[in-house]
Amino acid sequence: MEILGIDIGGSGIKGAPVNIETAELTTDRHRIPTPEISTPDAVSEVILELIQHFAWQGPIGCTFPAVIKQGVVKTAANIDNSWIGVNGEELIHAKTGCKTLLLNDADAAGIAEMEFGAGKGNSGVVIIHTFGTGIGSAIFVNGQLVPNTEFGRLEIRCKEAEQRASARNRTEEDLKWKAWTWRVNEFLERMETLFWPDLLIIGGGVSRKHNKFLHLLKARAEIVPAQMLNQAGIIGAAIAAGKRFDI
Ligand code: BGC
Repeated sequence: MEILGIDIGGSGIKGAPVNIETAELTTDRHRIPTPEISTPDAVSEVILELIQHFAWQGPIGCTFPAVIKQGVVKTAANIDNSWIGVNGEELIHAKTGCKTLLLNDADAAGIAEMEFGAGKGNSGVVIIHTFGTGIGSAIFVNGQLVPNTEFGRLEIRCKEAEQRASARNRTEEDLKWKAWTWRVNEFLERMETLFWPDLLIIGGGVSRKHNKFLHLLKARAEIVPAQMLNQAGIIGAAIAAGKRFDI
């Protein structure tokens, strides 16, 4: 069974039909840059374009870089503020005619990794962090997601962790791997003190370069790179929509 997965990010909106039984993209991914002013209207216009690109008529799953409660966007750290309070599921449904599930981007990535990737078969407490523009998080207990965790908001040295240790910090501040992982380690240490995870999955765009920094990360728990790289969001959104719409 196929569902269109869409990953709404700060710089690009990417989509592909996904076979939710195998987690494979059935067609090449299509990417459209996120509009510079990423208002609900502008973003839903791009989603319509993606849907037309794939001539899609079925249900869709969309990730979003924010807290989502019953389809409503509650925060907007890396997207236009006008999203706050908007029911994104209703908006996208009205625009495209497709039944829509909207969920947090890191939750979607976590779902994909737990079902088909680095966390597959792992019971216990698993935490995935996605390092990109911000720091996304998802926590699973015996495979069950606790949605909308925002561990990137943890305060370290008077700043939110995602303002010190995101992948954006590394590039914008021109940090060497060692300096950046030092900050990430500080964050992971706090996370371990609070949650005692059994497995830590490192995701987000930077996980593609894991051979440069994974050996520098320190934790009591096992640390592994995400396996689905930049497709985790698309795949996880499609899987979650399959569950929501009982497909
Ligand atoms: C947001 C999270 C999101 C993360 C990664 C943070 O700024 O608050 O909801 O998961 O960025 O995109």
